[in-house]
Amino acid sequence: MPEIIFIGHDGVEHVVEADLDTSLMKAAVNKMVPGVDGDCGGACACATCHVYVDPAWTERTGGPDAAEKEMLEFVSDPADNSRLACQITITAELHGLTVRLPRQQG
Ligand code: FES
Repeated sequence: MPEIIFIGHDGVEHVVEADLDTSLMKAAVNKMVPGVDGDCGGACACATCHVYVDPAWTERTGGPDAAEKEMLEFVSDPADNSRLACQITITAELHGLTVRLPRQQG
């Protein structure tokens, strides 16, 4: 299973093993990573799963589609590497993926 590294705004790292084909949001919620809520269940409608993808990984995760971009307009402190974790699907090539969590979700 791919390992994913979530880094909280306080610098604390949470390394979780994620099932293939699940979403990054579910991988975090299943392991109770603080700062990823996923209130809408992954429907791209709440933005409580906002993460910053480490720049070394943005090519492999790809960018947001139109609906996700629209939702990202509602997050605090958006950045070029902002993504909604529910819209990223875990694949084998994402082993080692590193994302940071916004201060507001701490
Ligand atoms: Fe609601 Fe990602 S879980 S937008």
